[in-house]
Amino acid sequence: MDRHRPSSFAVQRAEPEDLDPIRGLLETCGLPHDDLTLAHLNYFLVARDGIRLCGAVGIEPCGDAALLRSLAVAPDAQGQGLGTRLVEAIEQRARQKGIRTLYLLTTTAAPFFRDHEYETIEREALPEDIRRTEEAARLCPSSAVCMRKPLRASAEVADTDATHGV
Ligand SMILES: CC(C)(COP(=O)(O)OP(=O)(O)OC[C@H]1O[C@@H](n2cnc3c(N)ncnc32)[C@H](O)[C@@H]1OP(=O)(O)O)[C@@H](O)C(=O)NCCC(=O)NCCS
Repeated sequence: MDRHRPSSFAVQRAEPEDLDPIRGLLETCGLPHDDLTLAHLNYFLVARDGIRLCGAVGIEPCGDAALLRSLAVAPDAQGQGLGTRLVEAIEQRARQKGIRTLYLLTTTAAPFFRDHEYETIEREALPEDIRRTEEAARLCPSSAVCMRKPLRASAEVADTDATHGV
């Protein structure tokens, strides 16, 4: 199996009934989830292995920027390329929504995101709208690393099987 294209996982838009399983996954992975509501799920993707939810990621759009948040892969599904696939899929969805720049905060996964072309920035460089999101303002510790990635326009990006159906 190509570890960067795990075939057994389906990446799909989140459904309302995914809210509790996503919260459970975020809890397992040590990520904040107190603020997560059904409204957020419009911009969330999930990964399923059969009926089991084993991955999630979302964006919170603020104009033509968005906060990438809640990237999580179940511990027993990590290291098979699923995190990479979720990042690629949410970037593609963001492009389709007209997002030009993604921002994120992370306490543990900065090297992972650096491998995916996110650069570290000062917290002050976060746009005001992003800083005011619940996740950035309240849930992420001030020690979290802030990162940014400008997105190339859709036309510049070849579609991949990671994003089909998403
Ligand atoms: C970060 C995370 C989503 C990666 O998922 P994954 O499915 O294991 O990722 P992939 O299989 O696509 O990539 C694995 C690669 O990333 C690296 N990696 C994974 N997590 C990492 C971390 N926290 N720090 C540094 N590198 C990391 C692995 O070492 C591996 O590197 P390799 O390809 O050189 O062997 C997963 O580890 C996770 O859910 N962590 C807990 C939650 C978290 O920190 N989320 C990010 C906060 S926004």
